[in-house]
Amino acid sequence: MSDDKERTVELHYEGGVLKLPVFTGTEGENTVELKTLLGSTGMTTLDPGFGNTASCSSKITYIDGAAGILRYRGYPIEDLAVHSTFLETAYLVIYGELPEPGQLKEFSDKLRDNADIPAEMGAFIDAMPRNGHPMALMASAVNTLAAYYADSADPGDEEQVELATIRLMAKLPTIASRIYRNSIGETPIDPDDSLDYVDNFIRMTFGDNAPTGELGDLFNKAVGMLLVLHADHELNCSTATVRVVGSSQADIFASVASGINALSGPSHGGANQAVLEMLEEIRDSGISIEDFLEKVKSREVRLMGFGHRVYKNFDPRSKEIKVLASQILDRDENPDELFALALKLEAAALEDSYFTERKLYPNVDFYTGVIYRTMGFPTNMFTVLFAIGRLPGWVAHYREQLHDPAFRIARPRQHYIGSAERRHPSQG
Ligand code: ACO
Repeated sequence: MSDDKERTVELHYEGGVLKLPVFTGTEGENTVELKTLLGSTGMTTLDPGFGNTASCSSKITYIDGAAGILRYRGYPIEDLAVHSTFLETAYLVIYGELPEPGQLKEFSDKLRDNADIPAEMGAFIDAMPRNGHPMALMASAVNTLAAYYADSADPGDEEQVELATIRLMAKLPTIASRIYRNSIGETPIDPDDSLDYVDNFIRMTFGDNAPTGELGDLFNKAVGMLLVLHADHELNCSTATVRVVGSSQADIFASVASGINALSGPSHGGANQAVLEMLEEIRDSGISIEDFLEKVKSREVRLMGFGHRVYKNFDPRSKEIKVLASQILDRDENPDELFALALKLEAAALEDSYFTERKLYPNVDFYTGVIYRTMGFPTNMFTVLFAIGRLPGWVAHYREQLHDPAFRIARPRQHYIGSAERRHPSQG
């Protein structure tokens, strides 16, 4: 936040004129500070979905939705996706700088050393309903980390927050793969500290069925890149949730578990599952793309994987993912049928004024599902992969908030439209 309090806007209201300071960010929109509004005027603001509200100042991620720009700590997502691994990106997002080789080794070693989960926690995960949605199971498991690791649950102790950061990053893939193995009735596989982060996750998930050779390398690269593309996205629904929960001084495990729950909804991270289900439904029902788009336009259904609160242009992540999808799914004479369908659906939508006038473009979720499906992940695991990718962002925002001088418990106001005072029946 700039402390350039010279610039102001004036609010003219019945009681007078209120001067409100305007802050200039490094880039992007200027921000009007409303701290004095209620006290001075007796009025609040109404902003459903917080579409116009900056709830904090942040140094982590910059998005220009009109231009389709996304940067983590200043670095363009296109460069990170191609030139940085997921661990390098996670380090950047959490600690603010790309790691030097020694820092990366130390980070990576700590994650390897902490990848195991306690036997009791494994038993707890194994006892959960095996056909339950993995997002529900993962959120529950992450919530219990505060119980297993009470020595790193104090938000007021920097060393504990750092230890919890490592534990979360290290253990989430172990938890996710265990939930998956249970769901298919297979024995969970323990982490292997000789493997890197992504390889280890793939190995714990698929065991001996993990692809090897050229295909294995391609899958590893693809999973790594997808995690990089998901690593942060400023104040999205789940990250805002992590901040809100953390603002009550709840520990980082509880806050991240809440973020996982927020991510699970189909309007947010759950969209990648919903896209694949939509593509399968179009294929299985035999409906034409034109007729399906008519259903979308008549508001019978939404075109999942399209539209975004911030991007009013191509989501830069979706461009990278589309390239990745064609590398994986278009490799031989018979391209993947759902990928081919998605390409046609995108092309038809982008030629239709309903979508162009509303600036609806493919978002990050449009092509991820078809890639994950080819890798062998069941649809209900797609959002789990999103969560593993998003974890650095959640953790970075939680930590940034702890050091924000403007930090207060999140407590929005409301515009009350209920009954005025009424007489209770007992009062006659
Ligand atoms: N299909 C059809 N119409 C849409 C879609 C869509 N996917 N998205 C938006 N619209 C229409 C709305 O009906 C509205 O039209 P109107 O002005 O005529 O009423 C207009 O576009 C603006 O849409 P809003 O709902 O106001 O946009 P909002 O910013 O609130 O919602 C959201 C954004 C939730 C992402 C929405 O675009 C959507 O539901 N998309 C599908 C789900 C999805 O892909 N979610 C993943 C988002 S990315 C992520 O969270 C990781």
